[in-house]
Amino acid sequence: MTHITVNGIPLEVENGTTLLEAAQFLGFPIPTLCHMEGLSPYGACRLCVVEVGEGARAKLVSSCTYVAEEGQKVRTSSARVVRARKMVIELLLATCPQSKQIQDLASAHDVRQQRFRQEHEDCILCGRCVRMCEEQMVAKAIGFAGRGESRRIGTPFDRRSEVCRTCGGCMYVCPACELRCTYTEPDKAICGGCANLAPPCIEKEKFDDLMCYMKPCVACEIPRS
Ligand code: FES
Repeated sequence: MTHITVNGIPLEVENGTTLLEAAQFLGFPIPTLCHMEGLSPYGACRLCVVEVGEGARAKLVSSCTYVAEEGQKVRTSSARVVRARKMVIELLLATCPQSKQIQDLASAHDVRQQRFRQEHEDCILCGRCVRMCEEQMVAKAIGFAGRGESRRIGTPFDRRSEVCRTCGGCMYVCPACELRCTYTEPDKAICGGCANLAPPCIEKEKFDDLMCYMKPCVACEIPRS
């Protein structure tokens, strides 16, 4: 067992417990984005930062990937943590301003504007879709391609994947993809949003038979037959 304190509260956790799990056990809220239960931790977005250590040795770490260490003192909402989180949200807003999930995060953390060059990307490279495809759907149909600014999600060699079962799992977990459903009869849908699917990770022309498995549709709430 490992002994830590979270915001001054002593806690004994199993070896291998992450700081996020420890804080959540005590009920301290930590925002997350790339992290998702059922998928391996990835540590891409840094939204879940917490502060560990004291004095000059105090540092910020991503709580979803950082495993608790004996005697560690963890702060989940120090001024430094709050500042860092707001900065991460600003960067996410600059990258992907249309994401409702990111807008909600900004609102919840009182971020009213962002100071960076505004982009209109439709992917924040959180890797949720890649992990979902590999770990839950056991398909490995998509992955990261390119480096630096040209890093993106795609299929191997940008060809239609032979192993993709068009399950829609990638879109289901995507925090940036607003329109997740490919309802094929727009006149029967209420909002019509699901008829205009533009998933960031899949080129529509390569997957024109893509269907979403979710019931009901998250966009229009219509139970699908
Ligand atoms: S939620 Fe921990 S780094 Fe993204």
